[in-house]
Amino acid sequence: MKLDTAIAHAGLCGDPVTGAVSTPIYQTSTFRHPALGESTGFDYSRSSNPTRKVLEESIAALESGEKGFAFSTGLAAITAVFMLFKSGDHIIFSDDLYGGTYRLLDKVFSQFGLSASFVDTTCFKNLEKAFIKDKTKAVFIESPTNPLLKISDIRKISAFAHKNNILCIVDNTLMTPLLQQPLLLGADIVAHSGTKFLGGHNDTLAGLLAANGSELCARLAFIQNATGAVLSPFDSWLILRGMKTLSVRMQRSQENAQKVARWLSARRQVARVYYPGLESHPHADIHKIQSAGPGAMLSFSVKDKSLVEKIINNVKVISFAESLGGIETLITYPAKQTHSDIPEELRNRIGITDDLLRISIGIEDVNDLINDLKQAMEK
Ligand SMILES: Cc1ncc(COP(=O)(O)O)c(C=O)c1O
Repeated sequence: MKLDTAIAHAGLCGDPVTGAVSTPIYQTSTFRHPALGESTGFDYSRSSNPTRKVLEESIAALESGEKGFAFSTGLAAITAVFMLFKSGDHIIFSDDLYGGTYRLLDKVFSQFGLSASFVDTTCFKNLEKAFIKDKTKAVFIESPTNPLLKISDIRKISAFAHKNNILCIVDNTLMTPLLQQPLLLGADIVAHSGTKFLGGHNDTLAGLLAANGSELCARLAFIQNATGAVLSPFDSWLILRGMKTLSVRMQRSQENAQKVARWLSARRQVARVYYPGLESHPHADIHKIQSAGPGAMLSFSVKDKSLVEKIINNVKVISFAESLGGIETLITYPAKQTHSDIPEELRNRIGITDDLLRISIGIEDVNDLINDLKQAMEK
C-alpha cells in the first residue's frame, strides 16, 4: 500500500463489531474484566485505550516503527523521551531547535542532572567534537529545524549514533511521515507534535512517538503509563481524522509554500528566505535525498527591522499566531514567541534574530497569501 493510501485509511474499520468506518471513540476510563485473572486486553485507559491504540498503531505503521505512542502534547512526548536518560547523561542537540524543547532541557531536565550540547548538526564534525565518551547517550535533531529550516544528514547521524552505541532521535514534526521517515534512515525514535501537520486543523494538541527495538519500545511504554500524559480518546480520534487528509493538505500547502518562498526571494525588502525547496538553500541536495518534499514551513528575514511590526500588524488573510501545520496560514515572530526562552546571545549566534519571521503556509489560494503579504509590506 502506498503511503497516501495508508494515511487516508488510518484507523479504517477500527470497530470489529459494527464495521464502523470511522474509529469509535471509546470514552471510558476503565474496562470490565470478564472474570478474575482475565482481561479484554484493556484494563485502564492510561495504560491503553482502543481509540488511542488505533492512532498509535497508525503512527507506528506510517513511520515504519515497531511501536507508536500517543501523548497529550508534543512536549509530553519529548518529555517521555528525555525520561529514558539518567543523571549524568549527556545529549547532543541541533542548536536551532524548537524553543520549548530547549526550555524543557535547560529549565527542567538540567535539574535532574541531564546535560546537553547545542551544536550545528548540519556540520558532521560538530557532532564528533561534542561527543563525550561514556556520557553522551543520544543525538536529538530536527531536520528541517524550526525556525531556520536547517537540514542535517539523518542517515549519517544515525550511523554515527549506532557506531557509538547511542540513540538517534529525530523530531519529524515539520515533515510528517508523508515527506520523511527517519526510522528508515536509521533513527531509533521519531517524535512529533501531532498538534501540527498530523492534526492539521489548529484545533487539537497531541504528541506522538514511533520507535524501533523491542527493549526501547518497552521502556517508552513503561514511561508512558508510569508518567501518564496520554492522549484522550476524543483527541486521539481528532488526530486520526486529521491524518486522513494529510496527503492532500500537505500537497497544497507545499505548492503554496514554494510559490510564496519564490515571491519573497524576489522582494527587495527581504534579506533572506529559508526554505529547503529553494535551490539557494545550502543543504537542498541532502534534503532531496532524505525526503519527498520541502514541506510547508518557511522563514524569512527583512532588511529593515521595522518591517516586522508592519507585516505582523497588517496581515489580514494570514493570522499572527503561534503554532504551525494547520490549514490556515500563520505568521510567527520566533524571537518574541516560540523561541523567546532561548538566551538572546545563542539566538543571535544561530540566526534567530529580531528581523526573522516564520510562516506556516496553509491551503488557501496562494494569490490571497501573496497579496496579503504585499499589502502588509507596502502599508
Ligand atoms: C518542532 C516542534 N516540536 C515539538 C513541539 C511541541 O509540540 P506541542 O506544542 O504539541 O507540545 C513544537 C511546537 O511548536 C514544534 O514546533
